[in-house]
Amino acid sequence: MNKKIAILNGDGIGPEVTAQALKVLNAVAATFKHEFEYTEALIGAAAIDQTGSALPDETVAVCLKSDAVLFGAVGDPKYDHDPSAKVRPEQGILGIRKALELFANIRPVTTYPSLQHLSPLKAKHLEGVDFIIFRELTGGIYFGKKQTSEDGTVASDECSYAKEEIERIAHLSFQYARKRKKKLTLVDKANVLDTSRLWRRVVQQLATHYSDVTVDYMFVDNAAMQLILNPGQFDVILTENMFGDIISDEASVLSGSLGMLPSASVGNKTALFEPIHGSYPQAAGKDVANPIGSILSVAMMLDYFGLAEEAGLVRDAVSWTLYNNFVTKDIDMVNFYFTSTIGDLISDYVSGKIPGTVKKDNIELRKSTII
Ligand code: IPM
Ligand code: MG
Repeated sequence: MNKKIAILNGDGIGPEVTAQALKVLNAVAATFKHEFEYTEALIGAAAIDQTGSALPDETVAVCLKSDAVLFGAVGDPKYDHDPSAKVRPEQGILGIRKALELFANIRPVTTYPSLQHLSPLKAKHLEGVDFIIFRELTGGIYFGKKQTSEDGTVASDECSYAKEEIERIAHLSFQYARKRKKKLTLVDKANVLDTSRLWRRVVQQLATHYSDVTVDYMFVDNAAMQLILNPGQFDVILTENMFGDIISDEASVLSGSLGMLPSASVGNKTALFEPIHGSYPQAAGKDVANPIGSILSVAMMLDYFGLAEEAGLVRDAVSWTLYNNFVTKDIDMVNFYFTSTIGDLISDYVSGKIPGTVKKDNIELRKSTII
């Protein structure tokens, strides 16, 4: 298979985690005789520094010509502390989501037995936790009209949704629910918000076409609590843009680290794959960030290409590293391995270079020097 992939490294740890994901993609290409052609393009603070824009036209053009986009992260503290900045790195990711009409952001939340001790929850609450968040990505308060009064003392962000915007992601989430445990939970705030009441009406109507799927409705404040109290109750969660942003960060702690979670954003044009974490500037360039969110995003990309066996092998490789305690610093502060070592191990596993019994001592040599 031949595929063109746009690479948007972005800021902070973006380039280094993406580099590991590319190692894994290259190992998949070599093992299964595929050809992946990469084109890098600028986004975020890196793009502002070079072009003055967080999303240069050239980047959009490269993405539109590609079969998929692999995205790293955007964000830089020098903009976070300046609320009056006119150009911001985040405009890069928001802009590309809009330009590619990526209306559905799919965030699977998986737990691994070997990481359960890292979760703030007791192990008994984590058994069998495996759900997917469908976050609407191009509407709601993120993209509504924004206003600040001339004297700068009053500001507003409008939240609006049209029936069609809800229907298209709801259909997708129902189709996924059908292939899973056939349970869908709409998370909203229908006791207060008109937009949420519209979401409920639309989902209730659609539910009649998916009578094999059980639908329940949950207010977002309660959902935030239920995710911690009893996460095993969820299968597919469907929600609007900002609620999805918030509850997916919350859900990521169930897996042990924010660095573990991948995502796929799909819509009307090229699909985009990205870890859910941010640019983590404190760790940038230190080779300590967790590349697994990015590597599992590549697995989602392979699934999207219809390469299920390849995707499965990447996921097996990730599970193998975790099971053998080859983990980054976010997971084990003392016995940790570098970002690049984890990338090497996962790609070696994909290439079939890891023997049944691994000589840990050889890998130990590439371990952190502080232990
Ligand atoms: C995410 C991020 C983005 C969002 C930021 C970087 C704009 O938090 O992808 O979850 O809020 O959507
Ligand atoms: Mg977020």
